[in-house]
Order: sequence, then C-alpha cells, then structure tokens
Amino acid sequence: MNDIDNILTRSDFSREEIVRLLSLEGEEKVKLFRKAAEVKAEHSGHEVYFRGLVEFSNVCDKNCYYCGIRKDNSEVKRYNLSDEEILAAARFAWENQYGSLVLQSGELASSAFADRVEKLLREIKRLSNGELGITISLGEQSPEVYRRWFEAGAHRYLLRIESSTPELYRKIHPNDSLHDFDSRIACLRSLQKAGYQTGTGVMIGLPFQTLENLADDLLFFKSFDIDMVGMGPYLEHAETPLYAYRETLLPLQQRFDLSLKMIAVLRLLMPDINIAAATALQAIDPLGREKAVKVGANVIMPNITPGMYRNDYALYQNKPCVDEEPEQCKGCLDARIALAEGEIGYGKWGDSLHFQKRM
Ligand code: 5AD
Ligand code: SF4
Ligand code: FES
Repeated sequence: MNDIDNILTRSDFSREEIVRLLSLEGEEKVKLFRKAAEVKAEHSGHEVYFRGLVEFSNVCDKNCYYCGIRKDNSEVKRYNLSDEEILAAARFAWENQYGSLVLQSGELASSAFADRVEKLLREIKRLSNGELGITISLGEQSPEVYRRWFEAGAHRYLLRIESSTPELYRKIHPNDSLHDFDSRIACLRSLQKAGYQTGTGVMIGLPFQTLENLADDLLFFKSFDIDMVGMGPYLEHAETPLYAYRETLLPLQQRFDLSLKMIAVLRLLMPDINIAAATALQAIDPLGREKAVKVGANVIMPNITPGMYRNDYALYQNKPCVDEEPEQCKGCLDARIALAEGEIGYGKWGDSLHFQKRM
C-alpha cells in the first residue's frame, strides 16, 4: 500500500497530510474522490437536499474587499424585496416540496431589520403549517437577535468564517470593528449556544491564501464542531479592492479543482455533516455543483429569488441562473441530480446527522 492509500484509510489527518491531499493530481486525486464518494454513500446516503435560496436584499452595511455588493460599490442597483414577494417565494418552496428555505441578504444592524426578519419568520412558519425548515444567513448580529430569530422559527444559520487564519481574514476585510475576526468567532459560538444548526465556510483560491491556510480551515470546521459547511471558489469582481490582485490568482480551473478537493477531504474528516455544493462552482463549470455532489456534497441551494432581482445580487461576476425563473431551475435541477446519481430528498428538512447526534 502506498502512502496515499494509507492516508485514505483514515478519517483523521494532520495539517501536513491535508496539504498533501489538497495537492493530489491524476490517479491519486481520483482515489481521493472515489474514497469521499464511498464515505458519503455510507454515512449520508445518496440523498441530496434542496434549500430554496431567497436573496431578499442586496443592501449591506459592510465592505468586505472581495464582495460585489459591498457598501461602497456605487455601481450596484440596490433592491429590497417586499414582504409579499418574500412570502410568495417561501410558498413556492413549500408547494414544490423543497423542504427548506434559506433567507439571505446583506448584513444590516438596525433594530428595524431584526424586527422585520422576526415577523417574516413567523409568517413563513404559519403559511407552511410549520413544515418548511428555515435557514438564515444574515451576518453578524447580537446574541439577543440570534435568540429572537431562533424562537421565531429559524433553526439553521450560515455564517462563513471566510478564512480561519486571522492574518488572512484581516487582508480581505477592512481593519475596523465591523470586520473583526474575533467578533465573527464569537458570533459562531453564540449561534451554537442559541441552538442553531450552525454552518460556516470559506472561499477557496483567495489572493494570499496558501494550502496550509486551507488545511487549517478544514481543521477549524472539525474543532469547532460545525454542522454544515458551504465553501466554493473565490471569483474576482471588477468593482472590488481585491480585483487588484487578480494576476496572482490560480487559474479558474485550478480554483475549481481545489474546491472539489476541499469538499472531498472534508467529507472524509466529517462524514456526517451537511456539505453544500456552492453556486460559485457553477460559475466556473456548468456541471460544477453536480461534480461537487459526486465527491461529497449533499446539499444544493437552488435560487428561488424572483428572476428580475437575481442579476443584482452579484457577489461575484458571471453568476449562474440569473435569467431563469424558479420553475425553470427546478426542472433543470431534477435532471442534474439524476445525472450525478443522487436522489432528491423532497419534502424533508434534511438536518445534518452530525447535529442530530450533537443534541
Ligand atoms: N467570490 C466568491 N464568493 C464570494 N462571496 C462573497 N464574495 C465572493 C466572491 N467574490 C461569498 C462569501 C460570503 C457568501 C455569501 O458569498 O463567502 O460569505
Ligand atoms: Fe456584505 Fe456579505 Fe458582501 Fe460582506 S460578503 S459585503 S457582509 S454581502
Ligand atoms: Fe438554474 Fe439550471 S439550476 S437554470
């Protein structure tokens, strides 16, 4: 048995071993992917869960250096869906058996925003007889707001750490109290404490990022006892500060490949968590999300934001599905998942097994 075969029999790796796994090419890379597919089949089956994603507003208080809808980008046409539009999207998800919904927007700190979200959560629970699971992804908030939203019916929260290496985090965010690494960690802890299934993630292929940084990210997910992970390639956006470093980036295809390896290694490290196939994968490869499902992902977040707004939620450029309406994506995804030899867990919440065990 050679070295790699040996490493692949385990589910615990050192940082150096992870760096090696992330560097694999050719036959050995295929072995990694095959092993991850096996582990996934064994621990979380072939089911793929849908979360209907509603990007309900692109107004944001923050200025992350990588993001197309950062506050200082004056080229963005800002929008904010009405309550009726959000509820209609929720009804679409429920009627189409999506099982659960993700509400996402830019980060806002006002108490009016917290109140509005609380009210929406209660209404979504009501219109679906409590059946629709609700994930929210609304940035850093106080423990009190997290608690209120949990009580109103949200049960999962996504807050990407973006990078678990503090120095890299500081390079991709302004150096001020709104963008503080320690506060972000504190938020993740307070989400866990409030009772949420807690999801995080990172961008892959960032300027300045090394394989060691990425290995540390994977070890961070494990040591933080995370329930869900969403991670995908970093994609440069012309109207952002990090665009200045575009010449230093890995070519797109390599960023894509590295993202698949990250997913595969994470599946080996944490067999029972939910791993999302990030939409950003599809911006590089038309079959990106399907390929991610094959190597370990088990969650897909079809966009169900009304079509007319999709173009304006451009965190990165060349975002897929911006010209499609929710109905079109649904038909398209059914076919895509069949292609990846998965089954869609229609009508199920699809909670992470890891969370179920943790409780
Ligand atoms: N490329 C890829 N992902 C991005 N995000 C923001 N900007 C970009 C970009 N340019 C991701 C961040 C954020 C999530 C909502 O989108 O990780 O947490
Ligand atoms: Fe706002 Fe999120 Fe973009 Fe940062 S990544 S600027 S918090 S929408
Ligand atoms: Fe949106 Fe295929 S998933 S068009």
